[in-house]
Amino acid sequence: MAYYTTLGQLPPKRHIVFRRPDGALYSEEVFGTEGFVGPTSTLYHIHPPTQVSGWKTLYGTRPQYVEQDVMRMRHLKTAPMAAHGDPVTGRVVLFGNADVEMSVCMPAEGMDYHFKNAMGDECLFIHHGRGTLWTMFGTVTFGPKDYLVVPKGTIYRLEFEEPGEDEHPPKFVCFETANGSHIAPPRRYLSKETSQFLEHAPFCERDLRTPSLPLTFDERGEFEVRIKARDRVHSYVYPYHPLDVVGWDGCYYPYAFNIDDFSPIAAKHHMPPPTHQTFEGHNFVICSFCPRVLDWHPEAIPVPYNHSNLDSDEVLYYVEGNYKARKGIEVGSISLHPQGIPHGPHPGTIEKSLGATWTNELAVMCDTFRPLFPTAAALDLDDPAYPASWEEEHFPVSAGRHESDGSHRLNGAATRNGKAAKRRTPAARGGRSKVATGAKKKSRSGRGSRSTSKR
Ligand SMILES: [Fe+2]
Repeated sequence: MAYYTTLGQLPPKRHIVFRRPDGALYSEEVFGTEGFVGPTSTLYHIHPPTQVSGWKTLYGTRPQYVEQDVMRMRHLKTAPMAAHGDPVTGRVVLFGNADVEMSVCMPAEGMDYHFKNAMGDECLFIHHGRGTLWTMFGTVTFGPKDYLVVPKGTIYRLEFEEPGEDEHPPKFVCFETANGSHIAPPRRYLSKETSQFLEHAPFCERDLRTPSLPLTFDERGEFEVRIKARDRVHSYVYPYHPLDVVGWDGCYYPYAFNIDDFSPIAAKHHMPPPTHQTFEGHNFVICSFCPRVLDWHPEAIPVPYNHSNLDSDEVLYYVEGNYKARKGIEVGSISLHPQGIPHGPHPGTIEKSLGATWTNELAVMCDTFRPLFPTAAALDLDDPAYPASWEEEHFPVSAGRHESDGSHRLNGAATRNGKAAKRRTPAARGGRSKVATGAKKKSRSGRGSRSTSKR
């Protein structure tokens, strides 16, 4: 993380004597990145953090990618996935490359151990479920639609509560760096002088929930810590509770950010994906597409233009809402659009979107600068008919072409007998000039305006 924070007890200076109540010294640990010139925190343990034993290898974690020479659009429906494993072992990698791995997890059981990912940062998007992220930096409670950013090396345990009768069982998406880079808000959101979030950023420090108490667990015994390193998970034994930190300070720690706290940037015309960016790692970005007012130019096309993102593969996880620019997309769907071919709205959806003033869709996107490869688990969920879903006629009533009823379209407005209609005004299109509040209320209550996709 970019900014300095602190929790618990600290001595007044770094690297000086700091004693426990029994007179023994606390054990200082400098938790640093990038050769100690990147974000760093300093922690004070009750016990020496080096006091570990055992290095039993449990299982491998290197994803096995398939169809690496196939470039095509894909649509996965994750709803049928069955719950299994715990919040670590239950992660099913679906797409990835040498920079990032994307997995979906529906845990069936809890963790009776702590975990440390010593290979990369993790960014979890909690779709369903609530609970507690217990970490060596303190406690982060979480709920639906929270991002949890857990930096490399953090010892943690992810605990979900039992869902209520009307609640979905836990489900989350995990983006994990495979190239050793760190996941953070885009640098362009931050002041070069102070690292403070700038005014144009769609979120700021107040939106980030840093760890809080309880922080310290002073217990002796045998505690398993599973450490992911070298594409394997190793089991280590600590002779004390691994969350034994009494205080820390620095700029390296886990935090939560709820996607509803992302303030979307809307405009007169369509805004491109970078305005939705939330995090980035080396060679990939994570974006949040949130409910928002749609473009308010009187002739605006609210759905995105066809686009070729020439340097990126694009994966979208659909969280909520109606996906009018995509047919067949449902909650929990994942689409992959590779670099190499353009993508855009499905046939007929552009005309249907005209006049819409609000979108209620919610999706998380990961764009990568190198091709993403599927795993066999992804192929099991893949709809091979998806690429063909763009083949039908996009504009059954197209501009300048006379139809059987004698009508045609000009400037997006239907006319009769070739006589041009007056250019539509905001009022004629349902009061677009009053979009901000009126449209929101209409859409949210299920009346009136249509919702459109934002891809
Ligand atoms: Fe796109």
